Amino acid sequence: MKVAVLGAAGGIGQALSLLLKTQLPAGSELALYDVAPVVPGVAVDLSHIPTAVKVTGHGKDDLAGALTGTDVVLIPAGVPRKPGMDRSDLFNINAGIVKNLIEGVADNCPDACVGIITNPVNTTVAIAAETLKAKGVYNKNKLFGVTTLDVIRAETFVAELKDVDVASVHVPVIGGHSGTTILPLLSQVEGVEFSDDEVSSLTTRIQNAGTEVVEAKAGGGSATLSMGQAAARFCLSLVAAMQGENVVEYTYVQTDDSDDAAFFAHPVRLGANGVEEILPYGELSEFEEKAKNDMLEGLRGDIKLGVDFVTG
Ligand code: 2OP
Repeated sequence: MKVAVLGAAGGIGQALSLLLKTQLPAGSELALYDVAPVVPGVAVDLSHIPTAVKVTGHGKDDLAGALTGTDVVLIPAGVPRKPGMDRSDLFNINAGIVKNLIEGVADNCPDACVGIITNPVNTTVAIAAETLKAKGVYNKNKLFGVTTLDVIRAETFVAELKDVDVASVHVPVIGGHSGTTILPLLSQVEGVEFSDDEVSSLTTRIQNAGTEVVEAKAGGGSATLSMGQAAARFCLSLVAAMQGENVVEYTYVQTDDSDDAAFFAHPVRLGANGVEEILPYGELSEFEEKAKNDMLEGLRGDIKLGVDFVTG
């Protein structure tokens, strides 16, 4: 398996690359690409860790070298939020970055599975889809918005609140990856009960968790370490599934027959060719149904912005 990280020298990229260097299956290759001149150094640094994962570094003129022969591409490249910013405020800079990198994917590894981390994910995934379509190589089963951070945050916060072992907590999170489009399904968490007040405050905390980090970092960026962990979990699940294991992850994918939005995070059975099956997210409580209906228009607008950026 060859995995490429585009934006590998940034905060998320370095954390993610470290986790992949230590956890990808033996014999894998990890290609690190970045426009920042430090990227070959990051690759040398990681290459001294004794695991059977080969690391290569690729500077700004060598996107093709990073991508040729790649099976999984992860894209954290772009600028992060500062306090007071919404993820959508990143659109102007990050939209062009994602479009460029995806053109590289289309040219060099059109069959690869692609996980988008760059914000605003609700929109950048649509940009990636349209860019791949324009190149004639779009496969909806191989494009993912990485929303795993919402799941791991939800599990952490539920375990803290209910004082239970976090390893035993599973929280479905559907929708998108921004504010109220992030919809944790607390009604489906097994083994714990929530009061109405807890549902309301916990939902808000999960939706604002990214902002909690942005404010705590006080101008120094957004979540990098927890995002690196989340993206590594997603990538390792995808790699395991591509190698024959049965894996389900929540991720933001194109959903053809959905009344919700063209892209929507669902539980997805992953397989050798990416999406094997988009699973239903089950019954919603009244609170969740209302929260979903209230956010759908916003999510559809985020997606349209991405489509329009490419199709103009
Ligand atoms: C977050 O949720 C960076 O979008 C990422 O914190």
